[in-house]
Amino acid sequence: MVAEFRPEVVIHVAGNKDVRQCESNPGEAFATNAVGTGHVARACRKVGAKLVYLSTDLVFDGLRGNYLEEEIPQPTLVYGASKLAGEVAALRNCPGALVCRSGGLYGWRSPLLRWVAAELAAGRSVEAFVDVVNSPTFSGALAEAIEAAIERDLSGVLHVVGADRVSRYEQFRAFAEAFGFDPSLLVARVAGDRRREMMLLPDASLSTTASTGRIGLQPTPLASGMARLRLEGL
Ligand SMILES: NC(=O)c1ccc[n+]([C@@H]2O[C@H](COP(=O)([O-])OP(=O)(O)OC[C@H]3O[C@@H](n4cnc5c(N)ncnc54)[C@H](OP(=O)(O)O)[C@@H]3O)[C@@H](O)[C@H]2O)c1
Repeated sequence: MVAEFRPEVVIHVAGNKDVRQCESNPGEAFATNAVGTGHVARACRKVGAKLVYLSTDLVFDGLRGNYLEEEIPQPTLVYGASKLAGEVAALRNCPGALVCRSGGLYGWRSPLLRWVAAELAAGRSVEAFVDVVNSPTFSGALAEAIEAAIERDLSGVLHVVGADRVSRYEQFRAFAEAFGFDPSLLVARVAGDRRREMMLLPDASLSTTASTGRIGLQPTPLASGMARLRLEGL
C-alpha cells in the first residue's frame, strides 16, 4: 500500500496493546509490534516517506516515573519490550523516523472512561487505585503534537503525554468533575501486591521537558483535556 499510494508521512499506530495477551503470547506481540513495524519502516524508506511510530511509556520499568527521553528503557512487560523493539525497528530501518512515546490515552470513545461514566451515571461506586500513576494524555492533544512535530521534521525520540502525573483515582476524579458526576462515588483503593497480577505499574509517568522545547507546544493539563473531551463528546 505504501508503494502504491506513496504517502509523504506514515503515522504507524497499528499494534497489539493488550498487555495480558502480549504476556501470554510473546511471539505474537513481537510479530505485530516489532517485526510489523520493521516492514512499515522499510516500506517508508523505499518511497522516502516520513515515519512516525506511536510507542509507549511502558518501554520503561514503571517503578519511579518521570522518565527522560535519553534514559535507557528497561521494560518489565512483554508489551513494553515488543514496543521497544518496534522503536529500534523504526529508527534503524527508516532514516529520519520519529518515535512518539505516549501513555494513558483518553479521548473519543475511550472504553475505560465510558465504563466509568455508565457506572457513575447509574449512581454506582467505582473503585480506583491511588498507587497506579501515569501521565494521562488527551488523544486530541497527542494528534496536535504529532502534527507539529511533522511540520518541524523532528526525528528521534519524543515524549508526548499530558502535563499531570496522577493516579488512576485522580484521573477519574478529574473526569467526574468535568462531566458533572458525583466524585464522592469514587472510592480510593490501594492496589499494592495486586498490581503485579493485574499488570499495572506503580509510576509510568514521562518527563516531557526536552520534547516540549522541540515540538513547541505545551503539554495539556488533565483538567483542560477533560474539558475538551466534554466539549467534543465521549
Ligand atoms: N492506548 C494507550 O494508552 C496507548 C499509549 C501509548 C501508546 N499506544 C500505542 O498506540 C497504538 C494504538 O493504540 P490503541 O489504544 O488505539 O489500540 P487499539 O484500540 O487496540 O487499536 C490497535 C489497532 O491496531 C490494529 N492492529 C492490531 N494488530 C494488527 C496487525 N497485526 N496488523 C494490522 N493492524 C493491527 C487494530 O486493528 P483491528 O481493530 O482490526 O484489530 C487496531 O485498529 C498502539 O501501537 C499502542 O501501542 C497506546
